[in-house]
Amino acid sequence: MADAGAGPGLLGGLVGRVHQKVFGHPFVYDHIRPLAVGGIDMSPVYGALEARPDDVVVDVGCGTGDALRYLGPVSAYHGFDTDAVAIARARERAAQRPETRNARFEARLFSADDAAALAPTKIVLAGLLHHLTDDEARGLFRMLAASPQLKRVVTQDVVILPGRPVNNLLARMDRGRHVRFEPDYPRLADGSGLSVTQSWVMRCHPTRGLARYVVMILEPAGR
Ligand SMILES: C[S@@+](CC[C@H](N)C(=O)[O-])C[C@H]1O[C@@H](n2cnc3c(N)ncnc32)[C@H](O)[C@@H]1O
Repeated sequence: MADAGAGPGLLGGLVGRVHQKVFGHPFVYDHIRPLAVGGIDMSPVYGALEARPDDVVVDVGCGTGDALRYLGPVSAYHGFDTDAVAIARARERAAQRPETRNARFEARLFSADDAAALAPTKIVLAGLLHHLTDDEARGLFRMLAASPQLKRVVTQDVVILPGRPVNNLLARMDRGRHVRFEPDYPRLADGSGLSVTQSWVMRCHPTRGLARYVVMILEPAGR
């Protein structure tokens, strides 16, 4: 696993915190980051979710509510993120369009109680796994697998790829501290009760994208 964080020590810690603040600012995240990577089109990720009007969608690590740009009508949408500033921006964004006003956002971790209460059918983890340690990611997958109504989980993450120096430079500049090599992502689901049914690497924009992301579709094993 590659650790994209700043080096150790006081200076490294300070640089790391400034990096998190600047790159995590909603304006930088929504407007500057897409320019820096040649454009971002997440349609293949949300297309893979196959969300229908009767689906309850949970979006863990929802950030500023990017999913709302891609999802069509669903029965309910619940976004969770530990960053309160991003959640405030997501709420603002949702309120601007009548079709997304029912979206709900929570500035906290997603819990097993949430999974039981909301009974999600589709779960999106867009850009989340590379922010989580292996243990955190494995724990999350186990929790999601226990959701009785769950049909599908879709993940998308920054990835280190052999022979892709531009992608790898961008990946190392990412705020996520757990950017992985491609084979390390599906391994996170081993023994969780979810099976990876498809995974592929996509460009962040089909024609101009400089960064590449690994996308996985997971479904409850043996259901
Ligand atoms: C790369 S951003 C992706 C945001 C959004 N899904 C998107 O595609 O634009 C990753 C997000 O995960 C959030 N995050 C990191 N760890 C988290 C956790 N344990 N639970 C929920 N959100 C988390 C971060 O605050 C950040 O907003």
